[in-house]
Amino acid sequence: MRVLGIETSCDETGVAVVEDGCRILASRVLSQVDIHEPFGGVVPEIASRAHVEVITRLLERTLDDVRGSPAPAPRRPEAPVDAVAAVHRPGLVGSLLVGLTAAKSLAWAWGVPFVGVDHVHAHIYAAFLRDTPPFELPVVEDAFPAISLIVSGGHTSLYRSDAWMEHRLLGSTTDDAAGEAFDKAAAILGLGYPGGPAIARAARDGNPGAIGFPRTLLEPASLDFSFSGIKTAVLYHVKGQNARRGAPIRAGVRIADVAASFESAVVDVLVEKLRRALRREGLRRAIVGGGVAANRTLRARLERLAKEEGLELLCPDIALCTDNGAMVAGAGYQVLRAAGPGDLSLDVSCMATG
Ligand code: KG4
Ligand code: ZN
Repeated sequence: MRVLGIETSCDETGVAVVEDGCRILASRVLSQVDIHEPFGGVVPEIASRAHVEVITRLLERTLDDVRGSPAPAPRRPEAPVDAVAAVHRPGLVGSLLVGLTAAKSLAWAWGVPFVGVDHVHAHIYAAFLRDTPPFELPVVEDAFPAISLIVSGGHTSLYRSDAWMEHRLLGSTTDDAAGEAFDKAAAILGLGYPGGPAIARAARDGNPGAIGFPRTLLEPASLDFSFSGIKTAVLYHVKGQNARRGAPIRAGVRIADVAASFESAVVDVLVEKLRRALRREGLRRAIVGGGVAANRTLRARLERLAKEEGLELLCPDIALCTDNGAMVAGAGYQVLRAAGPGDLSLDVSCMATG
């Protein structure tokens, strides 16, 4: 079964076709980074308009890619795919509406099922997608139960995952998301937007032990996160105690050391919380996803944890960590199998995944 997946929850327009919930036949992502960069963050109204401008062309091109691929022909020649999936929550309402409306319209016109997908569930699913063989999903018992850690610009949460689309929230951020902390710290350091890749680049030449930024772990049993303290610590370190954001960076501050120390502190917290969740639930399998999971320091630390504790770690390819249509198509296949076709009256929602 071929599913077309559409992602427009924030500032990336993602369109992809995935076969049998695993094999990526085509995937294209158009980022709006350049458009939002002058504002230092995503401007919702501009984001939704930018999705409208590109989505039709992106759909056409992605479907052309599939026609040119060596994959077998679709089941029904009158429709290029067997189902259409789009993210309907959580995200920016105007942006979500663009992808959801496109998906419903295409499903209706082609006479194929439509399904709505939760963006966070799609991030969890990204670890199971492939664009090289073997194109096979594990049996459900070999993939679950697991602890899923989703770290992105909008979300930092831990879930207990018991099946493809069964995820129970264990903890989440009480203030900033980890990616948001990267973005804000990068803005303070004058490194540009988006901050995650910029901090990671700057950190390469820095000493992660140079500055002891706080590792906020909250109460010993807590699986929640807090990243607002470290952001303020970065601000005061580089611009002086009680400084405002617009203040100049103090002379002698080594940006590379600040970036490396910040990255190391955030990674420590994410790894420690994942370890706690695994212990509490008595599980030995972890799934990681979301834009921050593209961070190489985090990936290396997670691999070390997995080795030390004999864990199975499922991490998507770097390109599939940030928002994309393939994770939506894959998750949509599972939603369809578990719950059947969605209703064309489905609405968008900005509410966080429970
Ligand atoms: O998953 P995503 O594309 O969108 C949301 O669902 O939020 O994540 C975007 C976030 C941004 O905050 C970005 O700075 C962060 O992921 N990010 C990174 C890296 N690449 C992207 N953070 C740390 N290191 C990276 N290499
Ligand atoms: Zn995302």
